[in-house]
Amino acid sequence: MSIIDLHVSTENSFNEINGNNRSIELKEKYEQYYTPTNIANYMAAMFKPKKKKSITMLDPGVGMGSLTIAFVRNVLEWDNHPVEIKALLYEIDETVKFRLEENLSELKEYCLSHGVTFQWELKFTDFISDSVEKILRGDIDIFDYVILNPPYRKMVSGSKEDDELRGIGIQSANYYAAFVSLSKRYLKQHGEYVAITPRSFCNGVYFLPYRKDMELDTRYLDFHLFDSRTSPFSKDQVLQETIIYHGIKEIWDSNKYVNVLHSTDSSFSDTSKQLLKLEEIVYPSDANRVIRILRNGDEKQISDRINALPCTLKDIGLDVSTGPIVGFREKSENISKDVVENSYPYLYSKHIKNGAIVWPLNDAKNNSIIGDDSNLKRLRNRGNYVLVKRMSSKEERRRIICGVLKASDYNYEYFGFDNKTNYYHRNKSGFELEVTKGLCVFLSASLVDIYFRTFSGHTQVNASDLKSLRYPTINDLKELSSAYDDESDNQDSIDRKVEEIIKKYHNQD
Ligand SMILES: C[S@@+](CC[C@H](N)C(=O)[O-])C[C@H]1O[C@@H](n2cnc3c(N)ncnc32)[C@H](O)[C@@H]1O
Repeated sequence: MSIIDLHVSTENSFNEINGNNRSIELKEKYEQYYTPTNIANYMAAMFKPKKKKSITMLDPGVGMGSLTIAFVRNVLEWDNHPVEIKALLYEIDETVKFRLEENLSELKEYCLSHGVTFQWELKFTDFISDSVEKILRGDIDIFDYVILNPPYRKMVSGSKEDDELRGIGIQSANYYAAFVSLSKRYLKQHGEYVAITPRSFCNGVYFLPYRKDMELDTRYLDFHLFDSRTSPFSKDQVLQETIIYHGIKEIWDSNKYVNVLHSTDSSFSDTSKQLLKLEEIVYPSDANRVIRILRNGDEKQISDRINALPCTLKDIGLDVSTGPIVGFREKSENISKDVVENSYPYLYSKHIKNGAIVWPLNDAKNNSIIGDDSNLKRLRNRGNYVLVKRMSSKEERRRIICGVLKASDYNYEYFGFDNKTNYYHRNKSGFELEVTKGLCVFLSASLVDIYFRTFSGHTQVNASDLKSLRYPTINDLKELSSAYDDESDNQDSIDRKVEEIIKKYHNQD
C-alpha cells in the first residue's frame, strides 16, 4: 500500500508514519511523537485557501512527513488550487531520511496526477540554530503556510539554543514555543500557521514572553481542545493536555472572532464549536495575557460570573506566593522526619488534607525544619494561612486543593512552607482565621474549579494563576467561613454558599 493510500486509510492500518517503529532512544531524544493521520488531516483543513498559482509552506520537525502530506493533500482539494507547492522541511534526525524521501516522492507523484508540481528542500539540521541565523540575515516573511508538531522539551536556561534565541529576542520556556515563535517570523503578512502543542503555554509566567511574542504580529483564528488528556497521542502515552491552534500573521485585534472547537477525543466525532471574541479569550486589561479557553456556553456563563466578583487579591489586602523552602537546598541536618528540639513545622503538599493541615505525619518524608542563620528569612511568622498544593494528582477531583493552617493548633514561632505549595498571606504573615476559612471555602467551590480549568490545562497550580482570579470582598469571605468544615466532605454546602455570594454580583435572569 502506498503512503498516500495509507494516509487516507484508518489510523491503525499504517505503521511507519506513526513512529511506532522508532527506537525508544530516538523517540525520547528528539520527541518523535508523530501526528496521527486523522489529526494531521484535521489540522490541514483549518487553513484558509489562497487563490495563488504558487504557494510556499514550512514544516519544522517533519518526521515522516505526516503533516506535510496532510497539508498538500488538502490543498489539492481547494477550488482553484495552486499549480505549484514549494516546501521547506527541517528534521534533525537523519535516520528518517530514506522513508521520508520515499514518502515525499510519492506525494510528488500524487500531486503530478493532479497537475500540481510539488518541490521540497529537506534540511537535516537544527531548526533553531538555522532559523536564528536566517532571521539575523533578514530572511523572513517567506512562507504562506506553516504546519507544525514541534518537539516538546524544556528549554534549559543558558543552553546554546536558549542563548541563540535570546540573541534575537525570543525567550522560550520550551522547544515547542521556540519552534512556533520562529515559524511565525517566517510567515508573510496574512500567512497562517497551525500548530499542535501542549496547552501549558496558555497560562503561567514562564510562557508570558511567548504569549506576548505571538501577540506582536499574529492573532488566533481557531483553538481546538480535547477532553481527554491522553487522547491525541494515546499510542505514545503523551500525558499532556494538547491543543491545536491556528493563527494568522495580522495585527492583534481584540474585536475579531475566534472559533473555539472542542471534542472528547481525536476521533472528532462530537466536535462542538462556539464563536468568541478575542477579547473574551485574552482580556485586554490582563497584564499576564492568559489565554482562557471556554469550551461551551456553560463555561462562558461561569467565567462571566466569576469575573463579576468585585475584588482582586490585592484589593482584599492579601497575596499568594510559592513556598520559599526547597528541601534539598537546605542543610540536610536541618530537615527531619522527626519533630526534634528547636525545630519548626515544615509543611508541604502531603500535609494538606480535607481543607486543613495535618501535621506531623508518620508517612511524610519530612516534618520539621531547624531554623538558623542560614534559613530564618525563609521561615514565616506564626499565623493563620491558606496553603494550596502546587501539583494536584490526576485522581484528585479538583485542581485547587487547599487547607487552612490554624496558628492556635501549634505552639511554634515559625512555619516553613515548601516550594511545592503556594501560601496565601498578608505581607508575608498570617491573617484572620475567619478569612482563611472563607478563602478556603471559596477556592474549593466547583465553580472556581471549572473557571480555573478554562485557563489552566495542566495539574500545576501557579501562584500567578491564583493571583489572576477575581475574589469576593473580605466580608463575603467571612460569611463563607460558615461553610468551612474540615471533618466531612461538604462540597454541596460549599457550592451553595459560594453561589449565593456570586449571585450578589452577577444576577442571571
Ligand atoms: C513531535 S515530532 C513531529 C513530527 C512530525 N511533524 C509529525 O507531526 O508527525 C517532532 C519532530 O521534530 C524533530 N526535531 C526535534 N528537534 C529538532 C530540531 N532541533 N530541529 C529540527 N527537527 C527537530 C524530531 O526528530 C521529530 O521528528
